[in-house]
Amino acid sequence: MRESDKSKPGLTKEKRDSRVLELFEQVVEIEHRLIPTGLHVFGRDSDEAECADLLRMVASFDRPEHGTRALPDLIAEGLHLSAYGDLIEGRTEETRRARERVEEAARQSIAMFLKEGTGCAVAWLETNTHVPRLESRKVFELLAKIVEHLKSNVELESFVRALRGEYIEPGPGADIVQNPLILPTGRNTHAVNPYAVPSDAAYERAGRVVNLLLERHRAEHGRFPRAMALVLWGLDNIKTQGEGVAQALRLLGVRPLRDAMNRVTDVEPLPLAELGHPRIDVVLTVSGIFRDLFGATMLLLDKAVRRVAELDEPEELNYVRRNISEQMRAEDCTFETAALRVFSNAPGNYGTNVNFMVMDSQWETAGALGDLFVTRKCFAYGRDAEGRALEGREERGAMGRALSRVEAAYQNIDSFEIGITDVDHYFEYLGGVSKAIEHHAQARPAIYLSDALSRDVKVRSLAETVRLETRAKTLNPKWYEGMLKHGFRGVAEIESHVTNTFGWSATADAVDDWVYTEVAETFILDEQMLERLRDLNPHSARSLVARLLEAEGRGFWQAEAEMLERLREIFSGLEDRLEGIG
Ligand code: BEZ
Ligand code: MG
Repeated sequence: MRESDKSKPGLTKEKRDSRVLELFEQVVEIEHRLIPTGLHVFGRDSDEAECADLLRMVASFDRPEHGTRALPDLIAEGLHLSAYGDLIEGRTEETRRARERVEEAARQSIAMFLKEGTGCAVAWLETNTHVPRLESRKVFELLAKIVEHLKSNVELESFVRALRGEYIEPGPGADIVQNPLILPTGRNTHAVNPYAVPSDAAYERAGRVVNLLLERHRAEHGRFPRAMALVLWGLDNIKTQGEGVAQALRLLGVRPLRDAMNRVTDVEPLPLAELGHPRIDVVLTVSGIFRDLFGATMLLLDKAVRRVAELDEPEELNYVRRNISEQMRAEDCTFETAALRVFSNAPGNYGTNVNFMVMDSQWETAGALGDLFVTRKCFAYGRDAEGRALEGREERGAMGRALSRVEAAYQNIDSFEIGITDVDHYFEYLGGVSKAIEHHAQARPAIYLSDALSRDVKVRSLAETVRLETRAKTLNPKWYEGMLKHGFRGVAEIESHVTNTFGWSATADAVDDWVYTEVAETFILDEQMLERLRDLNPHSARSLVARLLEAEGRGFWQAEAEMLERLREIFSGLEDRLEGIG
């Protein structure tokens, strides 16, 4: 229950019901999330439960390229319910029940398919949900191909062939749910075509995400953000065919244009009347990998910013124009300098190093993290006044100025496998840029994420995402027991999740106290668990306790004195043991 509810014993029935429904939705959200239950073991195929989860996700999307429709849509139609898309968005008890009914039928039919084959699943769906056989058969035939590929990966063979210097067959690079054609795994990911990005589907989806993002910002802050900072990664934009790029274009209010060879080489402003929001200024931090893969896309984004800045529109509806002309007036600088918005590392360099500074506890003041981010990422890409390509010109001042106007930071998450506490890269980028904004704008930005994982597009605040990841993974026995099956490496994974969570405290103060308290209770203060961790990997066990103590020491966690005392004792016991004392 929320703190604010606790103090209100006279909560009305309606309020209580809606709060219960809200909590229920959060539980369902965790339940429905695909949770990796262990590390991938090279060459090994997934077990039945994982396979069923994966198929359910694959079947939940229309796949025009395979001539199949989304299974939940077919079931909702067969049962004469509202469209599944509306059920997802509905917030009443009735829509919730209908949605559950559809999802349960999808789950059962997939379980039947895995056990008894396509014929049985098709017949079951027809009898129970009136889905025409012709439609469901196409879906299960696609799933059957996927199952076969999942069972026959060529990872080990390809690895050995690569060692022998032999040819490895190429395949597309993506997430299985987004593009099942990546199977079988163990092939060479073939090169991307930056001119294909963003795809129509990515642009379409980005429209919904951007509307939700701006609506949410307006609801929470009373107005649209003057400027937003977006993080764009290379592999993500390969997997999503450019969703991140499309989101930046949508914020600016432009659409991609294709040339005679069907290559995206230009943009066209959408009329203001169609947008429903002002043109939002953007500051784009692109990774080194994005820079290497998407040179043409960086130029496209730079072009989009300039095109929008030059539109003859009222400044209160065109924030890009407003910000650039304000800067030109205030600093007497050129349009080209004031319009720089695409920043990355210096050529040949990668990463922000903010993650290393955090993990090695090498920072004294909070400003140091944001400062390091700008030092690493202040190299501008785009075109100069003469139209020549800028190949990463150091522009510390221009980046700082652009960040000083940013009110919200955002990143798109591309796959269910890797979330914001699985790797240190999310906090080094999104956390790093947020810290830099905090310094330059003298105010903390709102921080949002959304994922391209399911049909139910959701925009969450960073704090909500940290809570969801903590509940779905770090503190979820399904997840950590899956990890512990991998012994030494599994304990290292748990420790690394805690450190990545700590990274969100360090860069954005986005972690609730209960997260650290429950991590301590689950992994360290539970004697049996501590013993397991210690036996499997004493180094990671010690690092985990050290990280908790550091969280408290840096003021990220208000721990009870007794708990802290106990953690200190355990830490010193672990140290002694590692040093062979006692
Ligand atoms: C990228 O794909 O751009 C990326 C991958 C890992 C870490 C950071 C960026
Ligand atoms: Mg706190």
